[in-house]
Amino acid sequence: MAACRRHEITEPSREKVSPLTQASALAMHIGASLGVTPRFATAHLTTHNRAINGVYKRFTSHPAERLFIDYNTQAILAYKRASESLMKVHHLGISHPMSLVLLKQVKQALLEVIESNRELFKELDTEAFFYVVRPYYKPYRVGKEVYRGANAGDFAGINVIDMMLGLCPANDISYGQMLVEKFLYMMPEDQATLRECMRTPNLMDAFLNALKGPKSDWFGPACSLFVQVCKLHGDTAIQHHNQLVEKYIAKPSQTMQQQHLSKVTASGPPIEVLLKELADLRDRRAAAERADIFTRHHDLKRLRQAIGVKHEAI
Ligand code: HEM
Repeated sequence: MAACRRHEITEPSREKVSPLTQASALAMHIGASLGVTPRFATAHLTTHNRAINGVYKRFTSHPAERLFIDYNTQAILAYKRASESLMKVHHLGISHPMSLVLLKQVKQALLEVIESNRELFKELDTEAFFYVVRPYYKPYRVGKEVYRGANAGDFAGINVIDMMLGLCPANDISYGQMLVEKFLYMMPEDQATLRECMRTPNLMDAFLNALKGPKSDWFGPACSLFVQVCKLHGDTAIQHHNQLVEKYIAKPSQTMQQQHLSKVTASGPPIEVLLKELADLRDRRAAAERADIFTRHHDLKRLRQAIGVKHEAI
């Protein structure tokens, strides 16, 4: 169905119902029975794309597509590792000696995301991405409804990190809206993980609460690692927005021909709206100083002061 959309055999603004009747019926049967959207999702191309003799499913044989999927998968796997370790910290408590080990694992995994994104940014050709890869990620109709395209963020881990660190609260109006919208694009087990995480207290609040009690030896090393992890998570978000989105989406949207503009985003909203939403998300993750949206800028500053770190770059 994505290939039909890419080749404009279907086009959601032209039709009221998908002309792919049998494919729509099959997609809805499978999607509804599993509790996911009735269309291909990120997991199909990345973490759950079984290779046969070294070759996994792709839309094209163009090297840019393989490069894109390889680096997406690598970053997703690393984010997932970080999120799994963070959830374990909650069960042990921030003062547990093993939480230091877990926070080190989170740090390592986030450094791997940064490295993977750096390589992707260096190697992926802008035109090939724009014309060959991205068109397969457009929204399309299944039956009557239009479903947005897949993006590399459709897994629970990234939001588990946001929420466990306390950088993004599930009850924030725009962040909560994004979570609600995203659920069905994730695998059922990811949906369960995300729900559990939404009911779990965050680590930032735990560290801030510990400041109220007497000084203890465990606090310094644990808080220092926590602050480093927050910084690295923010760095991955800054990298995604200021490098990947800027180079492969924002710039091309200004320079490419008008007729290709509709090919730019996978999610549907106009480019300016999408870029603003992504910038807000970046600033929440990076705990930037913003008066108009909720960020943890001042709380992180308090934690840094408590351990005697003056600057954000540690
Ligand atoms: C060429 C590389 C990439 C580009 C141009 C890009 C662009 C975008 C865009 C435009 C969106 C908004 C939704 C949409 O219209 O699709 C998005 C969402 C997202 N992307 Fe990427 N992306 C890239 C690679 C990655 C990688 C490697 C990751 C790592 C897992 C990633 C993680 C996310 C996440 C988590 C979201 C959901 C919004 C959020 O929570 O930040 N992206 N991306």
